[in-house]
Amino acid sequence: MPVLTEMLSAAANIACGGGFHGAIVLERCVVGWLKTLMGFTNAQAHGVLTSGGSMANLTALAAARHRAAERLGWDIRKDGLQGGPRLVLYAGGEVHACVRKAVELMGLGSDAIRQVPTDDSFHMDLRKLGELIENDKKEGFHPFCVVGSAGTVNTGAVDDLDGLAAIAEREDLWLHVDGAYGAFGFLDPDLAPQFAGLARADSLALDPHKWMAVPIECGCVLVRDAANLRDTFSLIPPYIRVDGPDSRDELGPPMEYSFPLTRSYRAFKVWATLMHIGREGLAKTVARHNQLARHLSGIIGERDDLELLAPVELSIVCFRYAPAALRDDNERLNALNKAVLAKIQADGEAYPSQTVLNGRFAIRANIMHYATSREHVERLAELVVEAGETLARANQ
Ligand SMILES: Cc1ncc(COP(=O)(O)O)c(C=O)c1O
Repeated sequence: MPVLTEMLSAAANIACGGGFHGAIVLERCVVGWLKTLMGFTNAQAHGVLTSGGSMANLTALAAARHRAAERLGWDIRKDGLQGGPRLVLYAGGEVHACVRKAVELMGLGSDAIRQVPTDDSFHMDLRKLGELIENDKKEGFHPFCVVGSAGTVNTGAVDDLDGLAAIAEREDLWLHVDGAYGAFGFLDPDLAPQFAGLARADSLALDPHKWMAVPIECGCVLVRDAANLRDTFSLIPPYIRVDGPDSRDELGPPMEYSFPLTRSYRAFKVWATLMHIGREGLAKTVARHNQLARHLSGIIGERDDLELLAPVELSIVCFRYAPAALRDDNERLNALNKAVLAKIQADGEAYPSQTVLNGRFAIRANIMHYATSREHVERLAELVVEAGETLARANQ
C-alpha cells in the first residue's frame, strides 16, 4: 500500500510547500499522529516532514540557534553570526555525523561542538557534560544546545534523556534528541522507561523511512513550540504569497517551518503506512526486532568464537569473529573481520554493515526489516563463523 502511494504521488505531482490544499492538510494530520505517538502533545507542538534524519536534525538545530540568539537580543537572521557571543553545543561522542555537518553548515564551525565522552556502554557521560558546560561558561562561550541520542547509529545506545533534560533546563539549553534510528524504540513496552525524557525535549528528529518502513525519503522534525521553527524559517515574498481562502489558515504551510519550498507529497506514504500497520503494528514490529537482536546476542554469548562488542539496547548488534587463538590480537581480528564482512556482502546471502568501536572493527547487524526472522539472524551468525573459519585457515 505505501509503495502504491509513491506511484500515485508521482502521478498527482503535488507541490507541498505552500497553500492549504489537501496534501498540506494530510501532512498536518500525519505530523499530528507522530506528535501524539512521540508525546509532543502540548498545543504549540508542531513539525514537518523532511527528506530524512539529516534534514530533520539540521532543521531543529537551526531553530535552537535562532532561539538562543533571540534570547540574547540578537537578530541572527539579519546580523548572522556577527551579532553575538560564540555559541557552543554539546553532543555525545557517538552522535551521528549529520549533526556535525549541520553545525558546519550553520556557520558555527565544528569546533563549536563539544564532544562529550561516553561511558563503557556508549552513553553520553552527564557528569562530563556538566564539567564541559562549566568550563565553557568560564571561558566566555555561550552554551545553547545539547543533542542527545535516542538510539546511536553505531550501537543503538539511548542516552539518559531525563538526565539531559534536567541539565538542559538548569542551563537554559535547547534539548534536541536525534531519534532518527531509535526513537520508535520506545513503543517496545520493555524499553519505554529508557525514553522517558523524550517528553521533555525541545525537538526530536525522526526517520519514518527507517523503523516505520515508509519508502525512502521520509524524515520528520517535531518541535515543542511551533513559533521557534516559524521564526527561523518563515519568509514569504509576494510571488509565493497565497491570498484568498488559503490565507485563512493561521498555522501556515510547511515552507514556513523548514528550508525547502517545493516538497514532495511525503504525507501520503506515512498516512498509508500508519493506516496499514497502526500504532499496535508498529509497536509489535519494534518489539520483535529488539527481541531478535537479543536472540542474536544470546547466540553470540554462547559461542566462544564470536564476541559481542557493545551492549544490545535496541535492534543493533555489533560483534566479531574472535576465536580463542586470536582474542588478544586486535590488529589481526580487525583485518580478519573486515575480510569476513566483505565475503558475506559479496556472497549476497546477508548484508550486515560495519563500524569501529574503541578501535575494534565490528560487524553490525541493524535489524529493521519487517520480514527479518529468527532464521535470518541465526543464519547470519553461522555465516560469520563459516567465513571466519575459512579466512582464518587461509591466512595461517
Ligand atoms: C541516529 C541517526 N541520525 C541521523 C541519521 C541520518 O538520517 P538520514 O540518513 O535519513 O539523513 C541516521 C542515519 O543512519 C541515524 O542513524
